Amino acid sequence: METIVSVKDLSFSYGGSFKLSSITLNVEAGTVLALLGPNGCGKTTLLKCINALLKPEKGKVLIDGKNAHELKRWEIARLVGYVPQAHVPPFPYSTLDLVLMGRTAHLEFFQQPSNLDQQIAEQALRMVGLSHLGHRPYDQLSGGERQLALIARAIAQEPKLLLLDEPTAHLDFKNQFLVLDMVRRISRENGIGVIMSLHDPNQAIMFSDAVALMKNGSIFAVGPPHSVVTREKIETIYEISVRIVKHTDGSFIIPSMESFS
Ligand SMILES: Nc1ncnc2c1ncn2[C@@H]1O[C@H](COP(=O)(O)OP(=O)(O)O)[C@@H](O)[C@H]1O
Ligand SMILES: [Mg+2]
Repeated sequence: METIVSVKDLSFSYGGSFKLSSITLNVEAGTVLALLGPNGCGKTTLLKCINALLKPEKGKVLIDGKNAHELKRWEIARLVGYVPQAHVPPFPYSTLDLVLMGRTAHLEFFQQPSNLDQQIAEQALRMVGLSHLGHRPYDQLSGGERQLALIARAIAQEPKLLLLDEPTAHLDFKNQFLVLDMVRRISRENGIGVIMSLHDPNQAIMFSDAVALMKNGSIFAVGPPHSVVTREKIETIYEISVRIVKHTDGSFIIPSMESFS
């Protein structure tokens, strides 16, 4: 299988006490890696390092074999679609225009989007179920709809690597599953590598091909979901007691209520 992104012994610091230490990860084409870990463990920081928004102190990130920190911003935009955690910019244009912006990565300077670009943007909106909102101002969408529109923009970019920071954060119960299912499908059908941060270990089991558990800026465990999302490991990284519930659809992990009493 083709490796889309390879993080090699990466360390990063903002200057304070937090440090990402010696992160090593690989994501193959057409697969989804879920990042799990408590708040503040470094998921967002790692995604920003991979997208070359932050420069590591040590180590490197290879995207499609190229050193991410040596690429120009426009070169990265052709390879990487990034949906940040919280993104509520004033954008007084239509939702379709926002998605169409995903195409600028493929245009020359001053070149106008073509009919094909328009079609790709419309298709991306359809994939996230927002066709009916294409002409509504992006500013007027709900938090969940904005999240979906930003994912559509990243899809329209036709990246090789998709980085999603808490893609389910603003979504309702149903849309969380729709979006994760769609992400996995798009990844498989188009050979896109995906790294997404999640809070729910069950969603990681259901929708990813590999899971990386993070704690205090390090990778605590990485591998296939069922070997990583275990009772012992989840208890260690989240510091709560959990139990595994077996169901015909698979195993699920839930907190033990005794942890809270
Ligand atoms: N711009 C910043 N400057 C200094 N410290 C930061 C900055 N952004 C995040 N941090 C710190 O880095 C640590 C990791 O944060 P983050 O990567 O956002 O974690 P996560 O996404 O897993 O919740 C936290 O302790 C956070 O306070
Ligand atoms: Mg975060």
